[in-house]
Amino acid sequence: MSKNLSALSFRKGLENNVFTRMVEAGAATGTAETPEAVHEIAEHHLVGDAISLGAVSFYDFLKKGNAGKKVFVCNGSACLVAGTQKKLHGDLTKHFKKEEIGHICCLGRCHQGGAFQHDGKNYSGPSEAALKTVCENGEGDSSDHYAVGCSLPQPMLTAEFPGIEKYYAPLQALFAKGQDALLVELKDSKLRGRGGAGFPLHFKWQSCREVPGAVKYIVCNADEGDPGAYIDKYLMEQRPHSVLLGMIVAGWFAGATTGVLYIRAEYPDSVRIISEAIADLKKAGLLGKNIFESGFDFDLKVIKGAGAYICGEETALLASIEGQRPEVRVRPPFPTVEGLFRKPTIVNNVETFANLHSIITLGGKTYARTGTEQSSGPKLVSLDSNFKKPGLYEVAMGTPLEKVVNELGGGFRVPVKAIQVGGPLGGIVPVSKISELTVDFESFKNAGFLLGHAGVVSIPESFPMIEYIEHLFQFTADESCGKCFPCRLGSTRGQELVAKARSGKGNGDRIDPELMTDLLDTMEITSLCALGGGVPLPIKNALKYFKDELQPYFNSNLA
Ligand SMILES: Cc1cc2nc3c(=O)[nH]c(=O)nc-3n(C[C@H](O)[C@H](O)[C@H](O)COP(=O)(O)O)c2cc1C
Ligand code: SF4
Repeated sequence: MSKNLSALSFRKGLENNVFTRMVEAGAATGTAETPEAVHEIAEHHLVGDAISLGAVSFYDFLKKGNAGKKVFVCNGSACLVAGTQKKLHGDLTKHFKKEEIGHICCLGRCHQGGAFQHDGKNYSGPSEAALKTVCENGEGDSSDHYAVGCSLPQPMLTAEFPGIEKYYAPLQALFAKGQDALLVELKDSKLRGRGGAGFPLHFKWQSCREVPGAVKYIVCNADEGDPGAYIDKYLMEQRPHSVLLGMIVAGWFAGATTGVLYIRAEYPDSVRIISEAIADLKKAGLLGKNIFESGFDFDLKVIKGAGAYICGEETALLASIEGQRPEVRVRPPFPTVEGLFRKPTIVNNVETFANLHSIITLGGKTYARTGTEQSSGPKLVSLDSNFKKPGLYEVAMGTPLEKVVNELGGGFRVPVKAIQVGGPLGGIVPVSKISELTVDFESFKNAGFLLGHAGVVSIPESFPMIEYIEHLFQFTADESCGKCFPCRLGSTRGQELVAKARSGKGNGDRIDPELMTDLLDTMEITSLCALGGGVPLPIKNALKYFKDELQPYFNSNLA
């Protein structure tokens, strides 16, 4: 069935995109979940109303409950541990009715806390007076400021942009050398995807290149939903051409003529700046037909998301663009064989694409001199507001984590007991372990953590770990696509167990450690994707390293 839906969506294509129609239908009132809108979308898509209802009712910004909401308070992990949101919510109730205040998960203002969205603009950490101006006059300073640093001898991802002509000039030589030559460079570079899994780039690209097909796509995963991460946001807003160049190179390599950037709605500035950069490229003749007279045609299109963390998972993202309910798809087939509209597709993370300029200008071998043997190249790390110098830092893979925390980040502003690196599915690293880790995939994995996308959230000593565990279960329950039981049910049961134990009603409500272990093991082993399968890792880390703090919530000894 969903294959037929993909085919129907393909007929509408990207210009007349079904998902964009859904987003537009919800723009005026805050919801597309009305009988009229659902029916109109279904007619356009040539499907039944149930199909379009199934899709629109999934998204935070399209579902019925979103109607009439005027302001959205961030409830992501970084704002949670910053302890800013209760007061913010209280302050907002002076300007809005309770039912006009909604929630939003992570605006990428983790460096400041106190984040909210109003009238399509993001704000963070405003004073009460500034908040009043925003709420009453609809205006205020929505610009985003944070430290940007680099510990490489020569910045790569954070390098100054020299202008379109100079930046894109290396493409001409690349196109003249041909795809086989680039494949050698990609292999030499040993670049691995930055979206979390660390999959080798050359393998993915070559796989798509080898699949026959007249229509192929390049998709940029710009749905950076991990609270604590504003890495992709930085690149899209401050180095947009690094991302676009990477996508053009991918298109030329694999034989695709269209690239799509799926950018989360929580990043309105990214949507705007990337769209402007695309327009500039068109003007410069670097998109469209016969780029650099190479015979290569390529165009780029932006699709704005609608508030769903799971759309960062690549197959859910593709289903979303097709206007289907964004449920995770079983692999194989992998997107390189059956991706967008079931056509061969390369899906890469924003930061992954941003590495291509360095690879094609330096050559793969020189690029790989930065980083470690197995984790090559630079890595961006984002630090939350509990650091003295919160911000975005470029380091070589393999850099001691201690250097990032204490030198670049300046240490912590408040006493901190642990950091969560890599989003809600990343490990919880007790501060005692920071000195043992380096910023690369292997170091984190070998120590029982996960580098992931490398956003960092610091958990203060004063923040109860049991509350953090409940937050993780709740996040997973809220964001689960619902396709598989272990995640859909397990996350909710886990949240309930913890909530009951926290309510302190007596011994009967304490958690059985064996039950908790069973629940986490089941989720880890049997979930279809790394949402349900990944959240047990940080919870197990917390149970292991914060045993004494957590023991009172359990009815027998924690192992
Ligand atoms: C629950 C979940 C959320 C994800 N969120 C993102 C995301 O926000 N951005 C991203 O690039 N990859 C995300 N991923 C990973 C993607 O599925 C995919 O592996 C990635 O886009 C591939 O790009 P890369 O090879 O460049 O890393 C997520 C995966 C899961 C399971
Ligand atoms: S683990 Fe969760 S998010 Fe992933 S497929 Fe299963 S239900 Fe969906």
